Amino acid sequence: MTLTIGVDIGGTKVAGGVVDEAGVVLARVRRDTPADDVAKTRDVIVEVVVELMAAYPVKAVGIGAAGWIDATGSTVLFAPNIAWRDEPLRDYVSAAVGLPVTVENDANVAAWAEFRFGAGRDADDSMVMLTIGTGVGGGIVIGGRLLRGAHGIAGELGHMLAVPGGHPCGCGRLGCIEQYGSGNALVRFARAGAHQEPDRATELLDLAGGDVKSITGPMVTAAARAGDPVSCAAFAQIGHWLGISLADLVQILDPQVLVVGGGVIEAGELLLGPINRSYMDALAQRGRLPVAPVRPAETGNGAGVVGAADLARRI
Ligand code: BGC
Ligand code: NA
Ligand code: ZN
Repeated sequence: MTLTIGVDIGGTKVAGGVVDEAGVVLARVRRDTPADDVAKTRDVIVEVVVELMAAYPVKAVGIGAAGWIDATGSTVLFAPNIAWRDEPLRDYVSAAVGLPVTVENDANVAAWAEFRFGAGRDADDSMVMLTIGTGVGGGIVIGGRLLRGAHGIAGELGHMLAVPGGHPCGCGRLGCIEQYGSGNALVRFARAGAHQEPDRATELLDLAGGDVKSITGPMVTAAARAGDPVSCAAFAQIGHWLGISLADLVQILDPQVLVVGGGVIEAGELLLGPINRSYMDALAQRGRLPVAPVRPAETGNGAGVVGAADLARRI
């Protein structure tokens, strides 16, 4: 059985794992992402791989990275939430660890994991995934293959327009869906709500020690679970925007399945409920035509690791 390593680099965490051919993770390592320090981020990736290689004989390394990757799977061209600009990640890591390496967009690898082993495994043709974390990522599978586009950068679904002239995005535009449907957006909505209506945010403010600026994503999830109105409304807001984007994607791609993943969906129905309502509402055909179901990701927080490792097997 061939083993490969998958490494998933998000805006906050570097996660690595040794994965077998069935998508089972045999060992895991996790570190914080030093997001504003390119050299340290590189070193953390190498450390993670070296630690995993010491424990298992592996054949190749796949890296999922939060940014625009070139068509050859070697360079991170640009990343909105990490300081990479034309970062030659593949050659650096490959030279450091002595194994073949491929680099792919983090949401593309998560989508690949879901298509192979998760919520899209019964789909044989097409699936579209949104990942809801620090940013909003996207991955598109068409004809059983990841859609990479002419330049390698297809599926950057987080930078579709949600609100013309809206909130500034790390990509340089205004009003991307990433600014309205991400974990960061969830926190922004919750902070604004707690500031304006503190008596509807008592659970949330308790968790944050009374300080609006200390509110974090996990606090919003915990407070929403306890029924905190402002926290529930923050989930409803991001769900609203995400549902609209999913409906647009159906108009363009008509996939068999839509999958929503990323750390923020640990909130379950608190997020999926609003997404589904908004999605059904926003569909042009309003339920008159067959349409893809929206499913939560099944490979969980490990999706990136599993997908990157599976792609590395195909180098
Ligand atoms: C980046 C994507 C990435 C997504 C999720 C976005 O800001 O542009 O490349 O997939 O965040 O991490
Ligand atoms: Na993508
Ligand atoms: Zn953007």
